[in-house]
Amino acid sequence: MTHGHGGRVYEYAEQTGVAPHELLDFSANMNPLGPPATALAAISEHLAEIRHYPDARHLEVREAIGERFGLPTDCIMCTNGAAEAIDIAIRHLRPGTVWIFEPAFAEYAQAAARSHCHIERLPLAENLNVCEALCAASVREGDVIVLNNPHNPTGAIWTARQVALVISFATERHAKVLVDESFLDFRPDEESYSVLSQVIMTKDVLVVRSATKIYAIPGLRFGFLAAHPSFIHEIAKHRDPWSVNQLAQRAAQAAYRDRGFLDATHAWLATESAWVHATWGKRQDVVWYPPSVNYVFCQLADDIPISAMLQSFADRGIFVRTCGNYHGLSDRHIRFAIRLHADNERLYDAFCALIASL
Ligand SMILES: Cc1ncc(COP(=O)(O)O)c(C=O)c1O
Repeated sequence: MTHGHGGRVYEYAEQTGVAPHELLDFSANMNPLGPPATALAAISEHLAEIRHYPDARHLEVREAIGERFGLPTDCIMCTNGAAEAIDIAIRHLRPGTVWIFEPAFAEYAQAAARSHCHIERLPLAENLNVCEALCAASVREGDVIVLNNPHNPTGAIWTARQVALVISFATERHAKVLVDESFLDFRPDEESYSVLSQVIMTKDVLVVRSATKIYAIPGLRFGFLAAHPSFIHEIAKHRDPWSVNQLAQRAAQAAYRDRGFLDATHAWLATESAWVHATWGKRQDVVWYPPSVNYVFCQLADDIPISAMLQSFADRGIFVRTCGNYHGLSDRHIRFAIRLHADNERLYDAFCALIASL
C-alpha cells in the first residue's frame, strides 16, 4: 500500500474496496467543517451559468477577496487552485534558480522544472532562521526564493516581520520571494504572519493563497496570486484566461464573504489542537512538532513497525501521509490532518491499539 501523496481517495478506495466517502482521509489537510453551506448554495444558485464561458476577469470574486484581505482588486489574480498560482508565478518570473526550503511541497520543484529553472534545495534548519541559511547561499539577480508559511509538512511558521527580512534580503540581491500562504486562513491571527499587504509596496514579493484547504473544495479548485498590479497586468497576458470555472468563482465569492464559517473553523481548530497537544503531544514514542495550523507532523520511534501500522490503519479505512518522498525525511515521519473530534479519536485509538499489540 503506497501512501506517498496526500488526498488520493480514489486510489485508496480501489486498494481497500472501501467507498471513498467512508474513508477517513487524514492525508489531505481539508477543513472538516467545509465546504461552507454558503458556497454550496452559491453553486446551486448559479448552476445555469455553466452554459456560458466563465467571467475571465473574475470581477465579483476578486471583489470578495479584496474585501476579505483588504487588498485592491488589481493585486489579485484568481487561479485554478494554488498550484496554478505557483506555476503561473514561476513561468512568468523565469528565474535562473529557484531556492526551496526542504522538506517542501513537491509542486515548487515541479513548477521550476517545467520552466527549466535550476533548483537549489536548502535544508530547513531547526532554528528556522531562513535568512541565515540564505546568507550562506549564492542567491543571485533574477532568482526566486520560495517560502511556505506555514510550512508544509513541518508546520513551521514565520511572523510577517521575519518574512519581511527575507523580502529585504531578496531586494538587496535583485531576487524575488514567492510566499505560499495556502494554510494561513486557519489562523485567527493570520495578519501577524501574512505579507499580503506588502504586494502593493514592493514588486519583490508574490503571495499564493488557496481556497482548497480552508473551504474544503479540492475537487472544485480555487486559489489566487497576489502581486503588484503591474505584475498582475503582465502575467494576465500570458495565462489561460479560462482556467477558473464559473462555479468555482461563485463558490469562492460566497466563501470569502462568509465570516461565520471562518469563526467556526477557528473555534473548532482551537479545541481540537488542544486535544491533539494533550494526546499525541504527550507521547514518548513520537517526536512532536507542535502544529501551527490544521495538520500534525511527527516522527515515530524506531521500534514502531511502519508498514504494520499503515496496514492496520488501512484496515480501518484510515489514511495518513507518510513523508518518505520528501527530501530529508523518511517514512518514520508522518503528517496527518486534524479532523472532527470523533475522527481524531479514531486515529489516536488505532495508534494506541497498534502500540498495545506490539
Ligand atoms: C503548501 C501547499 N501549497 C499549495 C497547495 C496546492 O493547493 P491547491 O489545491 O489550492 O492547488 C498545497 C496542496 O497540498 C500545499 O500543501
